[in-house]
Amino acid sequence: MQLPRQVRMVEVGPRDGLQNEKAVVATAVKIALIERLADAGLTVVESGSFVSPKWVPQMADTDEVLGVIRRKPGVSYPVLVPNMKGLEAAEAAAGVEEIAVFGAASESFSQRNINCSIAESLNRFAPVVERAQKLRWRVRGYISCVLGCPYEGAVKPEAVADVAEKLLKMGCYEISLGDTIGVGTPLKSQAMLEVVAAKVPRDKLAVHYHDTYGQALANILASLELGIAVVDSSVAGLGGCPYAKGASGNVASEDVLYLLNGLGIETGVDLDRLAAAGRFISGALGRPPAARVAQALAARA
Ligand code: HMG
Ligand code: MG
Repeated sequence: MQLPRQVRMVEVGPRDGLQNEKAVVATAVKIALIERLADAGLTVVESGSFVSPKWVPQMADTDEVLGVIRRKPGVSYPVLVPNMKGLEAAEAAAGVEEIAVFGAASESFSQRNINCSIAESLNRFAPVVERAQKLRWRVRGYISCVLGCPYEGAVKPEAVADVAEKLLKMGCYEISLGDTIGVGTPLKSQAMLEVVAAKVPRDKLAVHYHDTYGQALANILASLELGIAVVDSSVAGLGGCPYAKGASGNVASEDVLYLLNGLGIETGVDLDRLAAAGRFISGALGRPPAARVAQALAARA
């Protein structure tokens, strides 16, 4: 199959990245980061989560963030919502038009991350999706542990396909397949995608690779080869999941963009502005960006 001509980059740094930071990041810094990412040309900038502040304290200011960000037309600022309580909080917040529900392909991870079984999680999501649709919000579905689980090891592609199909039927417009602990390699990724694509059309699939084992870019190329055209990433390679021990950051957005530019694939994202956003948040966190491309650009300057 030919590589896609265009790819939608879904920026998850302000959520997936910052949720895992030990230090509390000031609300004003989060707001400035989100605005810089949208100004770099990203059309999806995940901006927070309505989850329990006891579980994920870093996302406790999501309503404040949504209340202040300057929204650019054509840009979506989705937030994670695990249950009806989260949905109500999203409804009470300013300007929500898109949310994401998040499940898993492994039972142990589902328990650790959202405190319920896979079946229970789907039961919790159903009224969330129904209510969101009444509000004319878009709902994205995430599946964690699609290529391996920190508690159970190998995960069967059929288990991923089963949850993906259910989320699609529930009304999710897109299913993002998360290699939460970054253990996947290209042929395994392709084998998983082929099984999932038998149940969910490829144009409704996104890939979400963490770069724990340094395989994310190779996995992205392998996914593009199968016609996947939506890629999640995190500026400066921020990230991890608080409930997946040892899970390092998402693949860095700067590195993904450099790859896509090199392949002649359109994204609408400006590399210099994206790298500047990465330097901004890395400066605020007091460390250099994990993105290799950002490091190379800095060394050249
Ligand atoms: P629970 O304890 O089962 O919920 O948590 P509960 O209904 O029994 O409620 C317990 C307490 O939580 C109550 O408060 C509720 O009010 C409160 P208390 O009476 O004890 O003071 N509560 C909430 N508070 C705020 N917002 C809510 C909410 N719901 C209940 N929505 C819950 C269930 C899902 C809430 C909890 O387990 C949780 O918040 N987990 C955090 C999950 C999370 O954010 N994980 C990280 C994101 S997922 C990810 O990173 C993976 C991804 O990137 C893809 C990949 O890489 O694989 C997407
Ligand atoms: Mg993630």
